[in-house]
This record gives sequence, C-alpha cells and structure tokens, in this order.
Amino acid sequence: MAKMQEKTPQTPLEGGPQHVAIIMDGNGRWAQMRGRPRLLGHHAGARRVRDIVEACPGQGVKYLTVFAFSTENWKRTQTEVAGLMKLFRRYITRESRDLFERGVRVRFIGDRVRLDDKLVTLMDDLELLTSGNDRVHLTIALNYGGRDEVTRAAKRLAYEIEAGNLSYKDVDAETLTQFLDTQFLPDPDLVIRTSGEARISNFLLWQSAYAEYEFIDTLWPDFTADEFAKVVGGFAARDRRYGAVKA
Ligand code: FPP
Repeated sequence: MAKMQEKTPQTPLEGGPQHVAIIMDGNGRWAQMRGRPRLLGHHAGARRVRDIVEACPGQGVKYLTVFAFSTENWKRTQTEVAGLMKLFRRYITRESRDLFERGVRVRFIGDRVRLDDKLVTLMDDLELLTSGNDRVHLTIALNYGGRDEVTRAAKRLAYEIEAGNLSYKDVDAETLTQFLDTQFLPDPDLVIRTSGEARISNFLLWQSAYAEYEFIDTLWPDFTADEFAKVVGGFAARDRRYGAVKA
C-alpha cells in the first residue's frame, strides 16, 4: 500500500499547538435533538474524527488525542455501551487501511483489560499496521480515565521497586511519566471540549498540567475542520508562561 506524500508542515505553525486533545462531547444531544437514538449521534461523531484527523497536518498539529470512551462510560445503558463497542470494532475494521494510507500512526491509551478480546486484537493490529507512520499521530483513549491511568502507573512503579529494579529514590515526576499510558506522547498544548460543558472529566489529568483549555458550544458531530482551524489559530495568540513571569 502506497503512503500519501507528505505535503504538510512537520513542525507546529508559528506559536501553534503541537498536541491537541479533544473531549468529543454532545453526540447524544445531537441525536436526541433530531428525535433519533443516541447511537446515531455516536456514528455521526465517528465520522467527524476522520475530518479532524485530516485537518491536523494543515494546522501543524502533529499529535491528536481523542476521548472515545471513559472508565465512567460503563455506567451508561447496556444498549449504548454495546453499541459503542460495536462502533469501535467497526470503525477500526473499516478505517484501518485508510488511516495507514494517509500516514496516520494510531495508538490507544486506557485499560484494555475490560475490553473484549476481539476489539483488543483489532486495536493491536491497527497499532502494528500504522507503527511506521509519522504524518499525524492519532491517539484514541478507550476505557481511559486519568485517575485510573495514574493508579496503574503507580502500581507498576511499586512493582519495579519491589522487584528491586528501581529504588524509591528514583521516583520523580519524570519517572512516573514513563509509566503512564501516554509515555510516547508530548503533553497536550491545547484541550478542546465540545458541547458547552466546562469540565475535564478525568481526561489527561497529569499531562494537561500546563495545557490551555477551549470549551466550545458546538456539539461534536457538528464540529467542522473550519472550526477546528479557528480554535487552533486562536491558540497562537495566547500567552503561555508555565508559571513563570513574562520576560
Ligand atoms: C460523548 O457524548 C461521547 C462519547 C461518550 C463517545 C465518543 C465517541 C465517538 C465520538 C465516536 C467514536 C470515536 C472513535 C474514535 C471511533 P455524549 O454521549 O456524552 O453526548 P451528550 O452529552 O449529548 O449525551
């Protein structure tokens, strides 16, 4: 399979974000407003993911991380959870080849233990298939929760100490970061949440310590590449100081 030619910037646009993370909210309301089942909104939402991934290179965004299913989402009705799992399996099956050909490297974060074996196999296969790609890095958070991730990281760290491979004296922020699901990612520069809710909802808690946040009223299935470009463009105008005083 031929890979798409690289025509787009490799580095962020002047002052633009390198890593954008998105809480894709509002699928259910989008469907309900149309008198349709909530799952239809999730299907429409999945189509949006493709548009936004495609918009990334033109905006200089190298890393895109999307929140597809949280550790709390299991509390939804059985019908919705089963429908979402089926959607993830279908999305991976249908989009794999296209993602590969477009130079997208796909990785998943979150706890795979509770996911069904068929889905996990599809996730592993897609990660492997796209492992040589570097045009856009798409990370999909699936059965992901920030607290759960930090807890799992702490447990693995404790295991290494108990096994004698590490000393407690080695534990600092840098070491803990290496045990997180996101060890391969830079921290997000910008976190976008759609649908008018101003909450973080347990998304990338550790990694977003210095991120800028944008809360957008648009429901996720209506969030276009143009709107994405506007939000990303607005980021450059912000003054990020990471706790320091402006020079
Ligand atoms: C939140 O909207 C959205 C979700 C829990 C699922 C997100 C999934 C997708 C966008 C589709 C699949 C994604 C991929 C990567 C294949 P909500 O249901 O909470 O909406 P509401 O707040 O209006 O009820």
